[in-house]
Amino acid sequence: MPRPKFPDPLWYTRAMNQSERILQLLADGRFHSGDQLGRELRISRSSVWKHIRQIEALGLEVHAVPGRGYRLAAPLDLLAADAVQGEVAAPAAARLAGLEVHWDLDSTNRHLRAAAQSGLPSGYACLAERQSQGRGRRGRTWISPFAAHVYLSVYWRFPGSAAALGGLSLAIGVAVARALERAGVEVGLKWPNDLLWQDRKLGGVLLELFGEATGPCDVVVGVGVNVAMPCASAALVDQPWVDLRGILGPACPSRNRVAGLLLDELLTALADYERHGLTVFLEDWRRRDIAAGHDVELRLPQDRITGTALGVDDAGALLLRSGSSTLRFASGEVSLRIAP
Ligand code: BTN
Repeated sequence: MPRPKFPDPLWYTRAMNQSERILQLLADGRFHSGDQLGRELRISRSSVWKHIRQIEALGLEVHAVPGRGYRLAAPLDLLAADAVQGEVAAPAAARLAGLEVHWDLDSTNRHLRAAAQSGLPSGYACLAERQSQGRGRRGRTWISPFAAHVYLSVYWRFPGSAAALGGLSLAIGVAVARALERAGVEVGLKWPNDLLWQDRKLGGVLLELFGEATGPCDVVVGVGVNVAMPCASAALVDQPWVDLRGILGPACPSRNRVAGLLLDELLTALADYERHGLTVFLEDWRRRDIAAGHDVELRLPQDRITGTALGVDDAGALLLRSGSSTLRFASGEVSLRIAP
């Protein structure tokens, strides 16, 4: 099928509305007077105030001090398409069909999936500053506060059938682990692709497959990585978590760098998986496997099975020794818990 023609420029950032322009001015964390903001945008001071209310509705704290103006409680590390692009090396950049950077989406996965229905080139990516309905695995919500973490999705079209994609989930886990390693953090993988640092979740992957079962097969790869968890959001996360700032302190890279490294590794891994399958990722996955050799509990939709994790077979299926038998789990809606 011919690739749909996509409009130039390749790099697409949606035109900002006035609240977003004010937020960009406030991102430095300094005071900006209502007069100055109004002049920049050619709007009245009362309109500025209305936009400040909308900024607060994104979950951001704005200090309003008479005589000084408005200031964010903390400076913001905002996304910029060109800064993300700058982190993507030439071979992966050649596979990047386009990049959208949004301020506010329900879910980057849902957005790309909907866009793909009307024809999107393979290798198209999307980032958002915030997700109002971020999706996690097993129907969970992925807490996605504004300008705090990285929420990234990549659309890829595989020419073959869905049957060839059984190991993709593990390959993507390896790609994200490689990107995090380049960002300065060595993470472990918990089958199929949870990214853990010292038993706490640093990020997660959600793959959504659609299209014809016989092929071609469309995939949206969604990746969330915790960069700097705001206090107000921490209480909403229902599992042990960690963020890059907590691990790396002042050495924590910018969100643009983290997003760019992820994009670089994901595009490389998707192309490698298309050509070679899981084989070229297996050694790396096994090296990072934190469950192998440990007692685990596998949670299936209707059942729980305990046993000892034996690693993965060459197709990426989890092997579990339970009693005298070795069980094999191909994928699906399961959750693996490592016994303390
Ligand atoms: C998990 O539960 O471990 C998977 C979390 C995946 C979250 C990411 S954030 C970007 C993309 N868009 C979504 O709605 N979810 C994924």
